[in-house]
Amino acid sequence: MLNEKIAKLVITQVNKELYSAYLYLDFANYYADEGLDGFAHWYEVQAQEERDHAMMMRRYLIDNGIRVVFDEIAKPDKKFANTTDPLKAGYEHEQFVTSLINNIYAEAFAIKDFKTMQFLDWFIKEQGEEEKNAEDMLKKMELYGHDAKGLYSLNQELLARVYAPSTTGPAM
Ligand code: FEO
Repeated sequence: MLNEKIAKLVITQVNKELYSAYLYLDFANYYADEGLDGFAHWYEVQAQEERDHAMMMRRYLIDNGIRVVFDEIAKPDKKFANTTDPLKAGYEHEQFVTSLINNIYAEAFAIKDFKTMQFLDWFIKEQGEEEKNAEDMLKKMELYGHDAKGLYSLNQELLARVYAPSTTGPAM
């Protein structure tokens, strides 16, 4: 059985991961409307990954004796002035998610919940990758996205992303 405070934090994180999926689908909607199908596709894949994160956390809670009760998911309400804005918002969002995961880790550490720390190790690494991906995309857009040819190439590159469910996953 998990510590109550840790369980609450992980349940809240399930909500944040589902919100992340919702947010990235909102980005995908925006890009679809702009005619950038590669950007839309990239965020659709990202939304699937976020849902996977939520499912991993839900499974961890259930396997550790927690009755999971969901809260409502917030409405994505970001406004975009240009096609770079979602990338900036995505990078900032990943940094925020990293801070949330770090906070759960710190709480687990404080009460010597080594099992949850081990579970979260996978997410700590994953956040490092997600922040890097988001930052790389933003940099590329700033470098090449301002002319039609560069934007076309970048769109094609993002269109090639393939959804691959994690084969490793966190320690349960
Ligand atoms: Fe599940 Fe992108 O953090």
